[in-house]
Amino acid sequence: MEFATKCIHAMGENDYTGSITAPIYISSTFAHPKLGDTTGFNYTRESNPTRERLEKLMTELEGGVDALAFASGMAAIDTVMNLFAPGEHIVTGDDLYGGSFRLFRSINAKNGVEFTSVHTSSIEDIIRAIRPNSRAIFLETPTNPMMEVSDLRAICRVAKANKLLVIVDNTFLTPYFQKPLELGADIVIHSGTKYLCGHNDVLAGFTVTNNKELAEKLRLLYKTTGACLGALDAWLVIRGIKTLHLRMEKHQENALAIAQWLKSQPKVNRVLYPGLPEHPGYVENCLQASGFGGMISFSVDTPETARQILEGVKVIQFAESLGGTESLITYPIRQTHADLPPEECKEKGITDCLLRLSVGIEDKKDLIADLEQAFAKAK
Ligand SMILES: Cc1ncc(COP(=O)(O)O)c(C=O)c1O
Repeated sequence: MEFATKCIHAMGENDYTGSITAPIYISSTFAHPKLGDTTGFNYTRESNPTRERLEKLMTELEGGVDALAFASGMAAIDTVMNLFAPGEHIVTGDDLYGGSFRLFRSINAKNGVEFTSVHTSSIEDIIRAIRPNSRAIFLETPTNPMMEVSDLRAICRVAKANKLLVIVDNTFLTPYFQKPLELGADIVIHSGTKYLCGHNDVLAGFTVTNNKELAEKLRLLYKTTGACLGALDAWLVIRGIKTLHLRMEKHQENALAIAQWLKSQPKVNRVLYPGLPEHPGYVENCLQASGFGGMISFSVDTPETARQILEGVKVIQFAESLGGTESLITYPIRQTHADLPPEECKEKGITDCLLRLSVGIEDKKDLIADLEQAFAKAK
């Protein structure tokens, strides 16, 4: 089955009613036919028929053996971190969603897990960071918000040689554009809140793995800690995924047009979009993914210009999050990455002149016109 067909049909077949859409099972518990017997469902924290359809769909889309649907992306990352014990070490990318750093530093590190963050676009830096107690490499590609691209195949080779797991947060590209498990990764994570749901109306998260042993460990953690996605939200994500392939193409088409337009603006110093041939990760991204996605970061001449653009856009909305039908503009230094120490932000390039744009699926002419009028107002 091709990807587009999977988006629509891989959740499984109609039930006995012939219902074309997935039934929503709002039941926290399930009756047993007799002692020692079960319908396959016992209690919704463990599994739920609607959520199970979504998990089957995500397993198919990422090419894994099992997927878990969580109440948020952070819940998914938190559960994956529970695979590691005090004294174990994880190499992470040095540019990640700020909430992942907050989890690693304020909770996991306090519980004894050790972290080293490196530029995962440099294999040498990764190799240098590996220690005898290292257990995993955790990364995003492209990264949030600096849009750096890392060579997944090479990282997986180094990881295998050192018996490390590779965990990839695939939120930005989704399996439509990039399938890390096929490139050698062990676990894929998603904020399903973003492109998978796609309509800015649900919080969700996923883990997908192609390793049966890991799948069992994750399921045990999942049913024990209980950060599961509710049936109504699972249904909304199933509905969102039905158009994932169409939306991703449009996000990308619009993003490319806007990235090119931004390059011509005198107040724009730098445009970070891996779909621009001059982007340092362009070739790498072409070799491992079939597209570049809909996220752009760009820096402007002054913090005042940044403020005026954030406050001046009308169609594009100044809000956190990404990946929905509506275009959103974010100020990473004050929003997604506000908890990082200022010196660290500066080092990464997350300055008070950096803006992040999640390009929606509106008409690109309206989006460019909106940016144009906001730039025109900026003194
Ligand atoms: C790349 C990435 N991973 C994970 C998350 C966390 O997901 P959630 O907000 O669904 O908990 C986000 C949120 O913005 C993100 O951008």
